Amino acid sequence: MRIVSIVGARPQFVKLAVVARAAAAGEIEHITIHTGQHYDHGMSDVFFEELRIAAPKHHLGVGSGSHGIQTGEMLKKLEPVLVSENPDWVVLYGDTNSTLAGAVAASKLGLKTAHVEAGLRSFNRRMPEELNRIAADHLSDLLLCPTETAMQNLRREGLEDRSVLTGDVMYDAFLADSQRAQRENESLRFSWPPKSYALATVHRAENTDEPDRLLGIMRALEQISSELCPVVLPLHPRTRKALADLDWTGQRVVTIEPLSYLQMLLLEKNARMILTDSGGVQKEAYFAQVPCITLRDETEWVETLDNNCNVLAGANETSIIEAAFRSMKAGPWSLLYGSGDAGITIVKLLIAQRNHATPYNPLACQLRIC
Ligand code: UD1
Repeated sequence: MRIVSIVGARPQFVKLAVVARAAAAGEIEHITIHTGQHYDHGMSDVFFEELRIAAPKHHLGVGSGSHGIQTGEMLKKLEPVLVSENPDWVVLYGDTNSTLAGAVAASKLGLKTAHVEAGLRSFNRRMPEELNRIAADHLSDLLLCPTETAMQNLRREGLEDRSVLTGDVMYDAFLADSQRAQRENESLRFSWPPKSYALATVHRAENTDEPDRLLGIMRALEQISSELCPVVLPLHPRTRKALADLDWTGQRVVTIEPLSYLQMLLLEKNARMILTDSGGVQKEAYFAQVPCITLRDETEWVETLDNNCNVLAGANETSIIEAAFRSMKAGPWSLLYGSGDAGITIVKLLIAQRNHATPYNPLACQLRIC
């Protein structure tokens, strides 16, 4: 059996690593196509090196552009590669423009398509990611859901027959790699002891492309730095550019280059709190049992909001500061994202459904691949 994974942006490489490892355990041929959506070494190559993922067989080199140009360019370049590889399954991850292009290209060729992290909804159609995930879910043959909430969302959209609850591949990755991060990350020598600093990430278009929102967030981070604890902000290239355009001259927030996955895990685990607009980082905060403040008006990961483990603060300066001061009251945390075997479950499903016209019941699956 041959599986082709299509990826292109940073969070997808982590999810890919989990599926690639499970495929290797099952001795299944697995090929990666990298669209080139993220191309800086620190946004792409370092993840392949660190997570020990085989280099992509095909690199499409698409790069940046408007949504239409970026997605259109991917479609044009994906089609001939998919035709030549003719896989049993095309696997898509998350909600990026690479996911959308992969879903359109593969489904139009009649290839069987599986969507990892299916069923997430923010119910905010102004987010490009929301449109990408709705399209990917409706085009895919097999919808692999991380949570019961995701299953419910797909039920509401009439997609129940194609949906399976697998658990979250990012939880698999967290369990597999956070010990390694602790052991191997000698290179990360920050001067702050554990639980003495806050970690922040900002990259969503709704924040970076709206000066009022970005300034609200940055002012809040400055104040948290001066009144509560130092804030470390690894800067996404989009955010670096937006801050330069605004002539931002904040003094206190410590901005650094984007981090590798293991570095990020280590910094997350040791943080006193995490402030983020990233979906993946919200969950990693939950896995690490670190209080999270989400710099958005809604979240797809609604379970994380229980017990104030995660608090929606939007981009309002006062709300963010208040949430930061209250963050020590978070918890307790529960086990919400499966048992760390989502990758294996997904590969078993792909094997079992290879020739099935109807969805396969994973509970009846007797295959053992590791
Ligand atoms: C994309 C995803 C988002 C995901 C995020 C993770 C979409 C619509 N969004 O957002 O879901 O959470 O990746 O980071 O697909 N750039 C560089 N170097 C790089 C990559 C990007 O300089 O290696 C710059 C480019 O100027 C580009 C901008 O960052 O215009 C934004 O990149 P883009 O691919 O449009 O989306 P992200 O904001 O990264």
